Amino acid sequence: MFNKRVKIKELLATEPTGQEVTVMGWVRTFRNNQFIALNDGSTNNNLQIVVELGMLDEATLKRITTSASLKVTGECIPSLGKGQKMEIKAKSIEILGDSDPEQYPIQPKKHSLEFLREKAHLRFRTNTFAAVFRIRHTLAFAIHKFFHEKGFVYMHTPVITASDAEGAGEMFRVTTLPMDNPPRNEDGTIDFKEDFFGRSTNLTVSGQLEGELAATAFSEIYTFGPTFRAENSNTARHLAEFWMIEPEMAFCDIEDNMNLAEEFIRYVIKYALEHNREDIEFLAQRLAEEEKSLPQDKRSELGLLEKLDFVVNNNFERITYTEAIDILLQSPAYKKKKFQYEVKWGIDMQSEHERYLVEKHFKKPVIVTNYPKDIKSFYMRLNEDGKTVAAMDILAPGIGEIVGGSQREERYDVLVEKMNAMGIPTEELWWYLDTRRFGTVPHAGFGLGFERLVLFVTGMTNIRDVIAFPRTPKSAEF
Ligand code: 4AD
Ligand code: MG
Repeated sequence: MFNKRVKIKELLATEPTGQEVTVMGWVRTFRNNQFIALNDGSTNNNLQIVVELGMLDEATLKRITTSASLKVTGECIPSLGKGQKMEIKAKSIEILGDSDPEQYPIQPKKHSLEFLREKAHLRFRTNTFAAVFRIRHTLAFAIHKFFHEKGFVYMHTPVITASDAEGAGEMFRVTTLPMDNPPRNEDGTIDFKEDFFGRSTNLTVSGQLEGELAATAFSEIYTFGPTFRAENSNTARHLAEFWMIEPEMAFCDIEDNMNLAEEFIRYVIKYALEHNREDIEFLAQRLAEEEKSLPQDKRSELGLLEKLDFVVNNNFERITYTEAIDILLQSPAYKKKKFQYEVKWGIDMQSEHERYLVEKHFKKPVIVTNYPKDIKSFYMRLNEDGKTVAAMDILAPGIGEIVGGSQREERYDVLVEKMNAMGIPTEELWWYLDTRRFGTVPHAGFGLGFERLVLFVTGMTNIRDVIAFPRTPKSAEF
């Protein structure tokens, strides 16, 4: 029965010639007991169903309410309505599922994003979220396509691990030990030998270390999976569970790494522009409306489409960390004491600094390289100066850091020395060090935060609105 269904998007792309079709979807609105706007999630364009007078009894008409699900069979005819070339003259209408209008929480009117976040189980049925999640899908597909076409091997790295890839200690523990009475060692500490894996384990913060193992065999790999961080950052850019794409390339230096990252970002944005044009246009319109209520200086200079076209057609700016600090120190913002946080060589740049560079100074994405070694992870390659590492962060307008990457330290001795200095346990990472003992090669990679990319492409401003069911401090509903 169901496979005879036509998707509304496909149907709207054809000519109405009186052909009979069956469509299914959810009611958006029902006007004058006559016009049903039906949506099946394939597009934001609703299909108009015309109900002839007397076709349905009073009781059935009453059941055609917002979000009720219907099966409709009828004839495709040209529409006289504005903005639609086709409508369906219904022959039969079957109600698959009722939706009590007294109880259904989402009305056909504008709701705030905050309100819809509380109703995340139903928010896909709104135009904004439908557009966001179709774009999210397209971007995910484009990512696989990009790497596949380049011959990268897709690796599934473990979700449960015993190591802290970033060495930042922001991990969620995984355990089956009883919380109320865990087994203890003589000194009172918890005895993880009794735990499920016989050791202490956590959810992965990054697949990079395992990715490096694979890259030093396949030459080029990528991961695309969920990662978890127990950082208590309650911001519009941080999630406790987010998806990350991590390519890792052997025979590759920081320069090659930057080139790939730039090509990659341009490719996936272009793909979304080509394949989700309507949805991006819808969100561009939405953003423009939203921004009308903001003061002039808070509005974006470019509309969403212009911004994306600009990124696709222009090179990213490339500067060193030292140059970035100099620009900040020379800036009017610094001189007028507009920055809340200190600026000097050695700081971990705050988001106000990154945003100044990207939004005020360069007005385009910026790749910052060669950061001080003390503020970056242990695996990054030490530069000749002995003070900086071959790291690269890509900063995007409106987002801040969207990519973090580096050339890796491939020299065994230098790596071990660095791990010791930073308190990273070499004995636990024996397998990682083995890549440096057996056929080590210059290699590099980066991590792109998928939700930050989706934010950038959709013009949404809160990361909770671009992942289906956000996990953030004190929140894990659904
Ligand atoms: O800069 P990060 O921590 O780098 C790594 O994890 C490396 N292992 C990547 C690599 O070289 N293979 O994270 C990479 C990116 C960030 O630039 C950001 O886009 C995203 O992951 N990210 C987050 N996104 C959402 N919520 C969070 N809490 C995030 N933390 C990082
Ligand atoms: Mg980073």
